[in-house]
Amino acid sequence: MSTLWHGRFDGDPADELMAYTASIGFDARLASDDIAGSRAHVRMLGRVGLLADTEVDEVLAALDQTEQELAAGEFDFAPGDEDIHTAIERRVTELAGPAGAKLHTGRSRNDQVATDLRLFAKRELAAIAADLIALQQVLLERAVDAGDTYLPGYTHLQRAQPVLLAHHLLAHGWALARDVDRLADARVRLDVSPLGAGAVAGSSLPLDPDMAAAELGFAARFDNSMDAVSDRDFAAESLFSLTMVAIHLSRLGEEIVFWTSEEAGFATLDDAYATGSSMLPQKKNPDIAELARAKAGRLIGNLTGFLATLKGLPLAYNRDLQEDKEPLFDSFDQVRLGVRAMTGLMSSIAFNADTMADAADAPTSAATDLAEYLVAHGMPFREAHAVVGDLVRRSLDGEASLTDLVQADPRLGAAAELLTPGVPVTRRTTPGGAGPEPVAAQLEKFRARLNADANRFA
Ligand code: ARG
Repeated sequence: MSTLWHGRFDGDPADELMAYTASIGFDARLASDDIAGSRAHVRMLGRVGLLADTEVDEVLAALDQTEQELAAGEFDFAPGDEDIHTAIERRVTELAGPAGAKLHTGRSRNDQVATDLRLFAKRELAAIAADLIALQQVLLERAVDAGDTYLPGYTHLQRAQPVLLAHHLLAHGWALARDVDRLADARVRLDVSPLGAGAVAGSSLPLDPDMAAAELGFAARFDNSMDAVSDRDFAAESLFSLTMVAIHLSRLGEEIVFWTSEEAGFATLDDAYATGSSMLPQKKNPDIAELARAKAGRLIGNLTGFLATLKGLPLAYNRDLQEDKEPLFDSFDQVRLGVRAMTGLMSSIAFNADTMADAADAPTSAATDLAEYLVAHGMPFREAHAVVGDLVRRSLDGEASLTDLVQADPRLGAAAELLTPGVPVTRRTTPGGAGPEPVAAQLEKFRARLNADANRFA
């Protein structure tokens, strides 16, 4: 078995060493980014005079062929290919001979792998943002369609005040909008090329890292070669941004589990987005929503596990850093699958407006409106709270219905109309509130923000 570093070693590496340390099993996924990095590097080497133009062309042709072999599944991996970087360099050297052997001039896998992973994360962050925008689009459409449908707004999972369904859906939408912002922001900070940092210290050769950075479409090159090869902030930030998405999906998922329960009955899943039971013929289960709830735990594990890997690492590159890839790949994959599944689920779920209204129409849902009525007529709020609380307690004790007690109370007689089904939600008029007026304004604001984000990631 031959490795790229066999020169100073006496024999072959042990099988156990290769089995434990090789990353080819998961980093083959970086192949296209590695080839892009090599193209940029070899062009730079040509322009600074380290390779002749003909050599550059030979290496570029070998990279093209390697790319085709990989894409066609015809690439022959060799036993010594410990990672995708060595595999590609080996093949390029086989194809381009002496010119291929110059590809790694002034480069280390340390700056190479950091470059590849940044290219990967930069692209994937934008792709996740685009998927999140599609989910928000669905939430917006469903909010518009919801019209004046209302349901209980909960605190402590106890009915608190009625809210428009549109308001409730957009609450999830705004959380996802912040996620898009976070992904975009992480993307700006990671847009720095490490290529040219070498193993740790730069090079005695006349490399031009700015040229390589521009060639790869990075906004800037590294400022410090040690930082360039050891910095994985971008991986940690990407993991955190993805974890927040997963947490938001888990909260939406929990909502769906509750809404579709027979106890609530607020919504019904489309058959295509529900699952059955192997034993119970009548069952229709919200498995997507449950897994959205569960996978957030896995994402948190990927994030905290990787932070623990980084903690206390000395400068600069350490093999520990190879452990950045699996959590990052997994978090991207899980979030992508989750966002897409939730997009389908939310676009097809049926809302049961009558059941929602029934749950929100209990006279006690208007208790705060009664207190605010008294406040509007001059009573201090703390006193009004006690007056209405007393009526609620008496109705619960069985003295009379809350409606009857309100009608009989001289201070509240005219407030009885507030108990009419559908009225309380219309009384939430303050900016950002849950009633029809502020929600109409909110819908427009959300739409404008979404359109701007869609243009940002078009
Ligand atoms: N497979 C390694 C990684 O993913 C590449 C860098 C190895 N560098 C080294 N000096 N051993 O981090």
